[in-house]
Amino acid sequence: MSGKKSYNVVVLPGDGIGPEVVEQAVRVLELVSSKSKDFELNLKSYNFGGVAIDAAGKPLPDDTRNACKAADAILLGAVGGPKWGVGKVRPEQGLLDIRKELDLYANIRPASFPSESLLAYSPLKESIAKGTDIIVVRELVKGLYYGDRKEADLDTPGGDGEATDMMVYNRADVQRITRLAAYLALQQSPPAKLHSVDKANVLATSRLWRRVVTETVQHEFGDKGLELDHSLVDSTAMLMVSNPRKLNGILLTENMFGDILSDESSVIPGSLGLLPSASLSGLPDGKSRCNGLYEPIHGSAPDIAGQGIANPIGTILSAALLLRWSLGQKEAAENIESAVRKVLDTEQMGGLGLRTKDLGGEASTKEVGDKVCAELEKLL
Ligand code: IPM
Ligand code: MG
Repeated sequence: MSGKKSYNVVVLPGDGIGPEVVEQAVRVLELVSSKSKDFELNLKSYNFGGVAIDAAGKPLPDDTRNACKAADAILLGAVGGPKWGVGKVRPEQGLLDIRKELDLYANIRPASFPSESLLAYSPLKESIAKGTDIIVVRELVKGLYYGDRKEADLDTPGGDGEATDMMVYNRADVQRITRLAAYLALQQSPPAKLHSVDKANVLATSRLWRRVVTETVQHEFGDKGLELDHSLVDSTAMLMVSNPRKLNGILLTENMFGDILSDESSVIPGSLGLLPSASLSGLPDGKSRCNGLYEPIHGSAPDIAGQGIANPIGTILSAALLLRWSLGQKEAAENIESAVRKVLDTEQMGGLGLRTKDLGGEASTKEVGDKVCAELEKLL
């Protein structure tokens, strides 16, 4: 009897560069698992996205769906590509289905520099980008994405030529995402500021949002010293590129606004290849089950797929978040994050020149994985 905890992790390599970057993150997870005295990971891969359409005719086949539901956590590479882009059945539908089915209501997308050495890669001036440290917390299973929808029938003569997307939120939806944002804010010391973003000057759902966020923070976190402000999505989009540090902290917003603002914030730290993300079904406080889907923020990058040059760091850092939030293995997560920082900072000193192409270097996906594993091994 080893007495080790055992966790089932479903791996969804997906499309494009997904399988290449996931391979490196899986190596990292296997290494952590083999060295840990406390836990072991059972990793199993399933088809998802375009590859699943090719193999089974749908992006989220039943065996994948069932495995994801039963899993302790899920690691995803990326889905989509031109091959399926215009088809009737699209890979992205699998993503929307799995979010809903697992009730992954909280999408967390940090945008900060894993190392100061990367400042030069930001599309913003260094003086503006420096010190950006924003975590977007996006509501992920309601709003325009999942409301009633009517497609326009533009091909039938006499049709009304109208399309509708319905935006629906209720009090409980806003309360639970606010609690999660507040939880994350309180993980930092001093607590991170909470910036709630809406369009309350126009939308009823936004007025609901603003009031419920305010009440939840006041009633449930009033004694915790949490600072909360509200702003409109249009001016927030402007601030994000003119003075992003003003948004440092937790940016809490609904599904559609979060989709747009998280793309905007994610480019500030330079390489899309570096950033992780998580979609959670509950508070990651270890008190109850928190299934989660963890993935790099980048897409499937079909233009470089199969060449072994994609940056695996965003996926490796996603694996670290998976350990921290769904499996409660904080130390293992910190070790992976330290190993990644070490690899990035050693680059800065010119010791290894280890950069993938997105960061102006020539290192392969596997070389970066090798180096992260080598650094990690020293810490375990
Ligand atoms: C994202 C993506 C998805 C979304 C697409 C692929 C459906 O843009 O994860 O942000 O809009 O949520
Ligand atoms: Mg998006």
